[in-house]
Amino acid sequence: MQAYDLILKKRRGEALNAEEINFLINGYTQGLIADYQMAAFCMAVYFQGMTPRETTDLALAMANSGMKYDLSAISGVVIDKHSTGGVGDTTTLIVAPLVASCGVPVAKMSGRSLGHTGGTIDKLESIPGFRCELAQDEFVNQVNRIKVGIISQSAVIAPADKLLYALRDVTATVDSFPLIASSIMSKKIAAGADGFVLDVKTGSGAFMKEREQAVNLAKAMVAIGKEAGKPTVALVTDMEQPLGYMIGNALEVKEAIQTLAGDGAWDLTELSLRIGAEMLVLAGHSATAEEAYEVLLEKLKTKAGLIKMQELISNQGGDPRVIDDPSLLPQAAYQTVIRSTHCGYIKSIDALKIGRLVMQLGAGRQTKDSVIDLSVGIELKQKVGSYVEQNQPLAVIHSSRPLSTEYEAALDCFAFSQAPPRPQPLIWQKITDADV
Ligand code: URA
Ligand code: CA
Repeated sequence: MQAYDLILKKRRGEALNAEEINFLINGYTQGLIADYQMAAFCMAVYFQGMTPRETTDLALAMANSGMKYDLSAISGVVIDKHSTGGVGDTTTLIVAPLVASCGVPVAKMSGRSLGHTGGTIDKLESIPGFRCELAQDEFVNQVNRIKVGIISQSAVIAPADKLLYALRDVTATVDSFPLIASSIMSKKIAAGADGFVLDVKTGSGAFMKEREQAVNLAKAMVAIGKEAGKPTVALVTDMEQPLGYMIGNALEVKEAIQTLAGDGAWDLTELSLRIGAEMLVLAGHSATAEEAYEVLLEKLKTKAGLIKMQELISNQGGDPRVIDDPSLLPQAAYQTVIRSTHCGYIKSIDALKIGRLVMQLGAGRQTKDSVIDLSVGIELKQKVGSYVEQNQPLAVIHSSRPLSTEYEAALDCFAFSQAPPRPQPLIWQKITDADV
């Protein structure tokens, strides 16, 4: 087999088989196929696309290129949840304990923040003592014991994806649906769950700005799950404004605690319940998402999810007192109230700008090796659709130094209108295996 022939085949729009895709991925990972050939292949995929079978074979080849987690010793069906990345997206910290409190195992591998989007691992590390690096057997034992564990995604997972992503990044081939879908799913499959609930974000703060693109990506990923025999459901959800009120690591842990106590923002609570409901259905716990939703709502009311969160924290070495006293989390030295210059309805709160501002405050990474400040962030005082008077607080900036340009930058995230803006759905669409 020759790389040249496979590039030509794809350039002509023909489908490659599993053997051919494995040849390319294995050859590339071992350094036997050159960057220029792989780059040409990615460009051919960009223009010609891939069938669901090819996309799945690509995801499986990349998943098989490194270590794969074996979660078979966990009793019950393990469903993973994945978000394509948002601003203020604290749902994992709410959904994981909530679903676990129903007796369904949640063995979650999460990432760190990069760019303007946050990462669950950084958030958890703002809890004093919390350890995200557990060995596989320690992780499996914990999930069997308390039904929940959240660990940092191993660096040795899907190395082929890491190589390919770096190549795509410099050859204008990142934004290809089969390449993005296989990239995300390769890491999910290697992490070992039996099925997946995907939260595909759309809007200004999302990777996919247009809804149609998000739906296409969701379909491509659900198709991979279906072909790979791992039941997958995707929700296409709004990321036009940040989720909930808090954006920043320790702030989002505080928000997750408030939400599990039944006192969370409407959007964050609703999204967590809807994602959790899909997980309960895929795990075989509930017959319908509506039924599962009611079960989870009850767990919020009884604070069963909050108690499970506390159990998770103490089992992973964290200080469980943060549940009752969030002031034990890192606190920023400065708190500056941003006041409205307008009187009217809030028409939009730009999630991308907020995400960038929070990164600039020190909460996110510019590069993979940046050191981050867990205490800083933004606390919104309003959401889209609220009516505000002039001078009314819009947000509070939590910073470690006095502000320079950030006050103006924060104000610039808000847009106003005299008439109430038309409410937008939080969840645009659900994609199941019947749709692909
Ligand atoms: N996120 C990924 O993990 N891979 C992509 O290709 C794009 C976004
Ligand atoms: Ca939030």
